[in-house]
Amino acid sequence: QVAAASGHTVVLVDQSDEILKKSTKGIEESLKRVTKKKFADKPEAGAEFIKKTLKNLTTSTDAASVVHSTDLVIEAIVENLDVKNQLFKTLDKFAPEHTIFASNTSSLQITKMANATTRQDRFGGLHFFNPVPMMKLVEVIKTPMTSQKTFESLVDFSKAVGKSPVSCKDTPGFIVNRLLVPYMMEAVRLFERGDASKEDIDVAMKLGAGYPMGPFELLDYVGLDTSKYIIDGWHSLEPNNPLFAPSPLLNKLVEEKKLGKKTGEGFYKYK
Ligand code: 3HC
Repeated sequence: QVAAASGHTVVLVDQSDEILKKSTKGIEESLKRVTKKKFADKPEAGAEFIKKTLKNLTTSTDAASVVHSTDLVIEAIVENLDVKNQLFKTLDKFAPEHTIFASNTSSLQITKMANATTRQDRFGGLHFFNPVPMMKLVEVIKTPMTSQKTFESLVDFSKAVGKSPVSCKDTPGFIVNRLLVPYMMEAVRLFERGDASKEDIDVAMKLGAGYPMGPFELLDYVGLDTSKYIIDGWHSLEPNNPLFAPSPLLNKLVEEKKLGKKTGEGFYKYK
């Protein structure tokens, strides 16, 4: 959405036409929200902006067949290294020489994905934040193999889509998630110990620390499955780090498929 809105030609790829239809509808809805604010007094210019953005966007269910015409691939699939590596390996065969590959991973090592390809110097991380149309930050990750030219291209692209890039080494969670995920897990532990209710913890962090959402609201927004993937991965890397300890309550909710806003229930219920 943000790439298309800033004049880039985008091919959105997913597994089925049904998912792509749902995604396109979501983008249309989100564009309407953005437009309402950006073109408050100029509805005609707003309608033109939506039309132009959607014109820049096509969809496909076959990444290998569309990658030949791309300068940049941004992968944002399931948080599973084997699945990501398989995708990158396939795309590496079909993409032009100059094409840069980037992953939007929340917690996995970019270096491991780069090593699944033959273009380690043209591989980096581009980590966006939910909801992407609203959040201004992008973390640009440079592995020891990422060339300076690739890094600068990723920084330029981030600016071209209207974001503020920051850079970080290829370390677990980069900057934001390395601080945010342990904080959210500490909130769950505070609640698990019975020290405070989840409602009070959320109110406390909003009114006492100025956060736009409390930790439980944010966990539900991000998805409990995503948070669990992240913490389980880090726990296996550093089993003795108490900040990375799994939470029985989080595990139980994920097991019950209560994944947050997207499934209608997580820590809270949504209608
Ligand atoms: N698309 C377009 N516009 C959107 C939007 C979307 N998906 N979601 C919200 N907006 C717009 C609304 O239209 C609204 O615009 P308006 O002011 O003109 O009405 C504006 O954002 C504010 O929305 P709301 O009034 O509905 O709600 P809030 O004022 O609470 O803002 C929020 C919503 C921007 C999501 C805010 O609550 C927030 O900043 N929350 C914290 C989000 C956060 O921490 N994200 C990071 C998560 S971690 C992550 O993503 C990393 C990953 O690796 C796990």
